[in-house]
Amino acid sequence: MSYGAFLRGLLKDPRGVSAPTPSSPALAKAIAAKVDPLHPGLVVELGAGTGVVTAALLDRGISEDRLLIVEQGAYFYGLLAGRFPAAAVIQGDAFAFEQYVPAGAAISAVVCGVPLLNFPLTLRRTLIERALALQGLGGRFIQLSYGWKPPVHLKDVELGKTIVWRNFPPAHVWTFGAQTEDVTAVRNSLAPGWRPRPARERPAGL
Ligand SMILES: C[S@@+](CC[C@H](N)C(=O)[O-])C[C@H]1O[C@@H](n2cnc3c(N)ncnc32)[C@H](O)[C@@H]1O
Repeated sequence: MSYGAFLRGLLKDPRGVSAPTPSSPALAKAIAAKVDPLHPGLVVELGAGTGVVTAALLDRGISEDRLLIVEQGAYFYGLLAGRFPAAAVIQGDAFAFEQYVPAGAAISAVVCGVPLLNFPLTLRRTLIERALALQGLGGRFIQLSYGWKPPVHLKDVELGKTIVWRNFPPAHVWTFGAQTEDVTAVRNSLAPGWRPRPARERPAGL
């Protein structure tokens, strides 16, 4: 995928993209390395841009039909749908990702490229909490960030940090992971009556 393709998307939505370049191969590989391909379920990718991390997930051994990609930008959505025809690619809002998850589907990991630091702390926090609550033991929320501090601090949730220097600018991969008890605790701490929203559509291959 050419830099021109990324640049076009950046010019269409500078704030939504918030990065001068797509993730480098080293960064994409570091993000994908946090996903365990043997952990069953869908891998949800939020904010996939031109699909560099998506391609690294495939290289990691995750089959395309296990990918559920939620991308807001119409231009990037079109690119992704053409590039990954066996994946479920949805043009939608990452902060409402549950509505695109087929009812009863297991989630193996959530990988997020959305520039979370541009959003209010409450939104960031609840996105990560909800994503962990939807997963079971071994579930993860993996966040790409140019910030040097984690996008949120979550009590009782494991936090991993990897710095990738071979990227412009150097980036962090923050990995939030929850053990079974933590998932239950996070779920219980969510607003009363919270439920994942039912899928509006069941994408092919899921
Ligand atoms: C920094 S780019 C990351 C692209 C790609 N993951 C990479 O690593 O090169 C951020 C991406 O998030 C998308 N995005 C921003 N806000 C979003 C939202 N609320 N829901 C879904 N995608 C969003 C942008 O359109 C863009 O594709």
